[in-house]
Amino acid sequence: MTSYVPYHPDLEKPFPDEEELTRQVVAAMQRANEQVAAKHRHGLRDAHAKSHGVLAGELRVHSGLPSHLAQGLFAEARTYPVIVRLSTAPGDLRSDQVSVQRGFAIKVLGVPGPRAVDDGFTTQDFLLVNHPTLPVGTIGDYAKLQKLLESQPGQSDQQLKVTGLGARVAARTLTRLGRPLTPAIETLAAANNHILGETFHSMAALRYGDYVAKISAAPRSDNVRALTGVPVGRKAGESALRDLVADFFSHDSAEYELRAQLCADIEKMPVENASVLWPEELSPHQVVATLYLPAQDAYSDARRRYADDVLSFSPWHALEAHRPLGSIMRSRRAAYPQSSGYRHGYNGINQQEPAGIDELPA
Ligand code: HEM
Repeated sequence: MTSYVPYHPDLEKPFPDEEELTRQVVAAMQRANEQVAAKHRHGLRDAHAKSHGVLAGELRVHSGLPSHLAQGLFAEARTYPVIVRLSTAPGDLRSDQVSVQRGFAIKVLGVPGPRAVDDGFTTQDFLLVNHPTLPVGTIGDYAKLQKLLESQPGQSDQQLKVTGLGARVAARTLTRLGRPLTPAIETLAAANNHILGETFHSMAALRYGDYVAKISAAPRSDNVRALTGVPVGRKAGESALRDLVADFFSHDSAEYELRAQLCADIEKMPVENASVLWPEELSPHQVVATLYLPAQDAYSDARRRYADDVLSFSPWHALEAHRPLGSIMRSRRAAYPQSSGYRHGYNGINQQEPAGIDELPA
């Protein structure tokens, strides 16, 4: 039987100059955010600005989980209400014809237990992206991207498309030569596929009760499994992803499985470098819950306004049992409140953390 690495605070090691590097990254993001707000005359998220669906659903924790999986939020077979916000990664409103990473943010409501930070909330957020690793896996690497972060708002959709095309050509060449793709090329070369068929990952590690894990969500029901790898039509327009999501949920429900990949070897599955892919041979993704999303109006104006302008998702909206781990996660503790605070202030809207699903408009 696999033995898993027990959680201990000493698993985290501070990155050299971590506070200063985080400050620089947050300041660069803030400058980018200001440019985007001025362009749209509306405050947007500094990352994952564009939403494509806002869903109410249920997280059904499975019964009979073995003790290594029955941890934290997943300790008991319970059903929790959730809000899911689907997004794409840029901190700007790009055409959906540009292939960019997709986000799947889950807010679990009414979760009891001690908090990772003293926020008084009862939510547990899982922020997932459709790639298993983050190419810049430490705050040191992330800080090297500052110039890029700040120049992005000035780039046109066309420039971004050309970057994606270049990455796809480079990826094909490297594959032909039998060479591995660099993480950056792999990320930029991703095809523009249907968002509902993707598998989404926490990329970085978090505490999993007595253990440490990465979390992912994968299509479970046949209707979303059938969408894996289905390209977005070239003529489907600027808001193709929203149209696909709204159309799907106007008549269909979907199920995803939530999975935990437990750390079984701290050297080969590090918490301090999110660019390292945790090998599935050492520890598979194990299903712990089903995410059920019923048919609904996935993008009413009221929902869009609530999810985009009122809500905030953050890995630090968390139980202590799911404390985010590693320098990338620690840097997010400063980045998310900065972006959210600026957006709410610019728009003159109070941030609210929901206590119940009734707060999500129909
Ligand atoms: C492990 C890697 C990461 C993942 C999986 C991730 C995922 C996400 C997702 C899914 C969202 C959208 C949440 C929503 O729908 O509201 C988001 C937003 C955001 N991310 Fe990340 N992210 C990562 C790393 C980072 C890092 C390193 C930073 C900066 C240091 C960052 C800064 C932000 C900011 C500022 C927002 C907008 C927050 C707001 O205004 O509410 N992210 N991220």
